[in-house]
Amino acid sequence: MEAKKIVTAEILSNRPIAKGIMELKLLAPESASQAKPGQFVNVYTGDSSLLLPRPISICDADDTTLTLIYAVVGKGTAWFADCCVGQELRVSTPLGNGFDVSVVREGDTALLIGGGIGSCPLLKLGKVLKEKGVKLNVAIGFRDEPFLEEEFRALGANVVVATDSGRVGYHGTALAAAMDAGMDCEHWFTCGPKIMLKFVAKEAMARGRDAQVSMEERMGCGYGACVGCVVDVLERGAEAPVRKKVCKDGPVFLGSEVFFDEQ
Ligand code: FES
Repeated sequence: MEAKKIVTAEILSNRPIAKGIMELKLLAPESASQAKPGQFVNVYTGDSSLLLPRPISICDADDTTLTLIYAVVGKGTAWFADCCVGQELRVSTPLGNGFDVSVVREGDTALLIGGGIGSCPLLKLGKVLKEKGVKLNVAIGFRDEPFLEEEFRALGANVVVATDSGRVGYHGTALAAAMDAGMDCEHWFTCGPKIMLKFVAKEAMARGRDAQVSMEERMGCGYGACVGCVVDVLERGAEAPVRKKVCKDGPVFLGSEVFFDEQ
């Protein structure tokens, strides 16, 4: 578990990219330069009535800048949405284990399946995998309004977009879109709603794969205080499942090891 450090970050931009979805760019060299795909940061509001930070997954990062995408769903994220360029926020250094990219080799194929806001951490993952010479297939699903499609296409990825409404792209789930498009790959990575992760993990296993699943949707406080993020995990070789905190032990687990129906 990494030591948490809080740094001050300057807002470079904070803009809507879809209905209720904001992209926040922060000048935060210490956090950005350490970021691995699938990790998250805790972002603190300046409102003393909102004590807990908001865990937000890292969508992208370079040596100086963190890109975070968040849904405006409560008081904390509404507070962020009102922030202006030049304002300072307190943000943690990267937290969580992130995706394990050491298992992927040059020339391998990887399938990235994202659901809604869960598509965001897959962008940084896609960049890292591209640098490793991996062939990328991406399936991203949304209720009605997609985002990040162009960013994934810019990686040279084969991209399919799905919407629940059918207004844009494939009418159905990202998993169904991927399978219909024949996107089975050697390595599967996914992030999104728990129900989606469950079906992706099952489909991967049925094909002899083991998906890396990011369970960030289950996070509350992001630093071990609320215990709202516990999942049962049966680690390889273990006889009984153990309770794991998504924020401390995850958010990424192997799909074959998570008890999706038991929480
Ligand atoms: Fe609160 Fe894990 S998110 S304990």
